[in-house]
Amino acid sequence: MARRTVGVAMNGVTGRMGYNQHLLRSVLAIRQQGGVAVADGTVIWPEPVLIGRNEDRIRAIAERHGIERWTTDVGKALAEPDVEVYFDAQVTSARREGVLAAIAAGKHVYCEKPTAESLEDALDLARTAATAGVKTGVVQDKLFLPGLRKLKRLMDGGFFGRVLSVRGEFGYWVFEGDWQPAQRPSWNYRAEDGGGIVLDMFCHWQYVLRDIFGPVRSVQALTATHIPERVDEHGNAYAATADDAAYGIFELDGGIVAQINSSWATRVNRDELVEFHVDGTEGSAVAGLRHCRVQHRSITPKAVWNPDLPSPVDFRAQWQEVPDNTEFDNGFKEQWELFLRHVVLDEPWQWDLLAGARGVQLAELGLRSAAEGRRVEVPELTL
Ligand SMILES: NC(=O)c1ccc[n+]([C@@H]2O[C@H](COP(=O)([O-])OP(=O)(O)OC[C@H]3O[C@@H](n4cnc5c(N)ncnc54)[C@H](O)[C@@H]3O)[C@@H](O)[C@H]2O)c1
Repeated sequence: MARRTVGVAMNGVTGRMGYNQHLLRSVLAIRQQGGVAVADGTVIWPEPVLIGRNEDRIRAIAERHGIERWTTDVGKALAEPDVEVYFDAQVTSARREGVLAAIAAGKHVYCEKPTAESLEDALDLARTAATAGVKTGVVQDKLFLPGLRKLKRLMDGGFFGRVLSVRGEFGYWVFEGDWQPAQRPSWNYRAEDGGGIVLDMFCHWQYVLRDIFGPVRSVQALTATHIPERVDEHGNAYAATADDAAYGIFELDGGIVAQINSSWATRVNRDELVEFHVDGTEGSAVAGLRHCRVQHRSITPKAVWNPDLPSPVDFRAQWQEVPDNTEFDNGFKEQWELFLRHVVLDEPWQWDLLAGARGVQLAELGLRSAAEGRRVEVPELTL
């Protein structure tokens, strides 16, 4: 079986996402399964070159996983002739520099979202890559979640009739870091370091809404910093300068109203950490990370408002589970496989740096809406 090796310079693999989702569960998992098998019997084989700022930490990761090539020098990794792809999962504020260097070196780029801290920078990255003729990809992992894939399947099968509204609830309590360590990095809570839940999550909501229901045409958001002081990884108190909750309303094509709460200051009383409740004329669905439940028009019970009596109805029992009907792999890995196929086989691909810029645009306009206290139109982006 012919092996088509693709050198991948991976920056940011000492971080949470870079290490767990991209190195372990994607690139190393693809190698573990024997590569990405394509139709003519060839196997696409990613060959990682790890990049990190701290020599001890990057060497330790390389040794732990038997990876021979690592460096603290981005330029050196980009100069390797077999490296075709640069991957970036650094903190958001460091992304632009790394991606621009990769484009200048003629490498294809795959990176985490947000692609940049401002729409101007995000569009500049997309345009620079297009001019250079390199292929680009941005992580849009939520589309690959089993629950959302089932939701998309329902949409594609016409289950909902006319979709009326989408209600999303995302969030959980992120510890302040004083009496229990925070479960997210402290830069997430500092605006000056690229933090904030709007910049983080509106990028996700943008592609989830667009790809499943339709493009977002306006945004209205109210943001809050509910926890103004937190304690960082070193036990030092710091001022939380970024928003830790956002309450957003989005108008989509076709008059669909989406309302999504995103919060790191809420306690979970849901079945999953994110859930979307979709109402359509023909049926409704509630989709989370893994599960998706539906209630069709034909079996919708007649609810009657009566505050005088305790209700005997178990409302949740009136929904049906949507079957898997397929095996769901890790979403990050699935997207990596598609990107590698796009690079090697030139297969169609839609989640490029322009798609990434749309996410940054929604975040930026969401923050503007919150600052100015008004609804903001979302123009269609082009290169
Ligand atoms: N797709 C998703 O669901 C998802 C989820 C969380 C985070 N992210 C994105 O992934 C990126 C990394 O997030 P994370 O949670 O892994 O962060 P992290 O703090 O765990 O990792 C950050 C990485 O960037 C490196 N880095 C480079 N320059 C740095 C600097 N000046 N300060 C600090 N670290 C620096 C670190 O060494 C580390 O490897 C962010 O852009 C974030 O928005 C995406």
